[in-house]
Amino acid sequence: VNYLVPKTKGEIVDILLEGLQRQEYRGYDSAGLTIDGNVEGESLVFRQVGKVKELRKLVDESDKFDRNATEHCHSGIAHTRWATHGAPETRNCHPQTSDPQNEFLVVHNGIITNYKELKQFLTLKGETFASDTDTECIAKLFRYLFHENRKTGGYLDFTQLAKLVLRELQGAFGLLVKSMHYPAEVIASRKGSPLLVGVKSDRKLKVDFLDVEFDNANSMADNINGLSINGVQEGSSLDNIADINNSGLNRDGLRHSQSRAFFSEEGPIPTEFFVASDPAAVIKYTKKVLFMEDDDIAHICEGELHIHRVTHTTGESTIRQIQTLEMELAQIMKGEFPHFMLKEIYEQPDSVVNTMRGRVDFENNTIKLGGLRTLLTTIRRCRRIIMIACGTSYHSCLATRQIFEELTEIPVSVELASDFLDRRSPVFRDDVCVFVSQSGETADSILALKYCNERGALTVGIVNSVGSTISRMTSCGVHINAGPEIGVASTKAYTSQFVALVMMALILSDDTLSRSERRRDIIQALGNLSDQIKKVLQLNDKIKLMCDDVLADQKSLLLLGRGYQHATALEGALKIKEISYMHSEGVLAGELKHGVLALVDENLPMIVMATRDSLFPKVLSSINQVVARSGNPIIICNEGDGDRFDPKYRTLEVPATVDCLQGVLNVIPLQLISYWLAVRQGIDVDFPRNLAKSVTVE
Ligand code: G6P
Repeated sequence: VNYLVPKTKGEIVDILLEGLQRQEYRGYDSAGLTIDGNVEGESLVFRQVGKVKELRKLVDESDKFDRNATEHCHSGIAHTRWATHGAPETRNCHPQTSDPQNEFLVVHNGIITNYKELKQFLTLKGETFASDTDTECIAKLFRYLFHENRKTGGYLDFTQLAKLVLRELQGAFGLLVKSMHYPAEVIASRKGSPLLVGVKSDRKLKVDFLDVEFDNANSMADNINGLSINGVQEGSSLDNIADINNSGLNRDGLRHSQSRAFFSEEGPIPTEFFVASDPAAVIKYTKKVLFMEDDDIAHICEGELHIHRVTHTTGESTIRQIQTLEMELAQIMKGEFPHFMLKEIYEQPDSVVNTMRGRVDFENNTIKLGGLRTLLTTIRRCRRIIMIACGTSYHSCLATRQIFEELTEIPVSVELASDFLDRRSPVFRDDVCVFVSQSGETADSILALKYCNERGALTVGIVNSVGSTISRMTSCGVHINAGPEIGVASTKAYTSQFVALVMMALILSDDTLSRSERRRDIIQALGNLSDQIKKVLQLNDKIKLMCDDVLADQKSLLLLGRGYQHATALEGALKIKEISYMHSEGVLAGELKHGVLALVDENLPMIVMATRDSLFPKVLSSINQVVARSGNPIIICNEGDGDRFDPKYRTLEVPATVDCLQGVLNVIPLQLISYWLAVRQGIDVDFPRNLAKSVTVE
């Protein structure tokens, strides 16, 4: 939304499309946008099945769209979709509209769980529906309540109307609304789905009214200032929205006219606002962002941003920080790599160092994790640790459980968030629940986190995305600092989660003298990890050839590991499934004889993790069991061990490290195998079918 910043429609559409392209990894079966039309209040709407570039084509070819026009041009909203309700068809793309005149237009991430009831209600009121989406109900509800109110002679401003609508919605949403009745205004709201507002203004602003805490209070003048948390004290004309004046939030008790945030003495300040579900979409324009909280309504109007609450509970925080994003544009560009996934695989020598930066003292063999500092003693005293996550993040928990148990002697269980909730597993006040998530926005993990918070457990977040829901909802935590991960298949986030969790286990046990030698070995091994990853990456050409020779066109693949390497086998199998669509299964080598052996013959490809640790002899016997049934294993072993095996079996030699970190090195060949298998088949690696990077729906 821009205010007093002359921009052509073409420029605004370019910002929207580029923003969409940067968020395309969140959904990519269809896309759409709306931009102000040629008459005040009119909207042009474009919707297209397929990727963002198809939408761009549609817009470029439209004769209604004049790139150079600047009249009545204030805002646009856009969306890229990962279907939950309704197949990817044009009529199901967003923006969804309330009616053919586009009185209200909505883009929405998430799921409205009571959409059937809403649809029934609106149908009774005479509405007909043009799509199969839950989102259409939102647009229609806006329109219905707007006109109902008008009939009684009332006037609702956009925020008041939004409150009425949002109170009716159940489920999860991050949404944006535009309306012909409120030209130049935009409403944004969230519940369970991420949303942030980027703010850009060319001038240094005078502090008129300040109701927001800044990163650094001493340099307020350098910040965009004056964002009022519900600075609005407007009079309501409706009895049934009496609590619209929940002025408790406006600490200074200022009236609307006094709280105009973006005006200096010389007059209005040119301002632009960028609302997005991911910082990657706004980083090009501004680094100043405000992460919205659940039930916040951001109302952008005439260069001002006001944050309201759908319903206000006394005692809740009235502070929204403006944060300065650390990420650089280059971090979310592919550079010379053909895919984000390959780029991110190759970033791992650096990303693991970033996870450790400033936290590991290799000389004194100590670890510092600022985010856990104040609660360390409490964590050490807990009766058990429950690690909770989904997908790849779950595997990083499995990979590190053993070292947690060994070093801390606290029982550790590892849970898939959805299953943990399905079972309504008992949680107590003296439990520590560790939530691991790349995005910090995975719906299943967030719900499990709420569940644990409600039961009084101490919650810890191990998260990559700064400002994400999980990082905000946990009592304390560690950012893994792997940098933005765009590829749907998680790679560098896995290895950084792994390292962060090992560091957490180390710090929890640093009061135990008896384990100091073991701890020293691990810390020293952390110091060598980056160079060792670089060595593993040198296997790339060999791996690519191997994929062509023995793995391509296979229907199925087994990955075998035990002890620390069981998690590696599961993670490798997940990578291969996710992007190459080949059926693959991670198998605990000890379980081979209890069933899986029945699948083994000379045709079934198999990868065995046979790096040296205390279980190495047992893995060798699993290899023998496989070979005795004419199996043809590919063996991942330590450098120098290749010759141990019959030369007819292929080997990939990786450097040796301490047992609990070996999985960081062993997983990298598997990431590369999945990558090359997918590329061979012409699959768009960063956009595998049916998957999304952050699954913000249950
Ligand atoms: C999705 C992604 C996976 C990811 C999982 C958990 O399924 O496709 O790659 O591992 O969500 O995501 P999180 O952001 O919580 O780590």
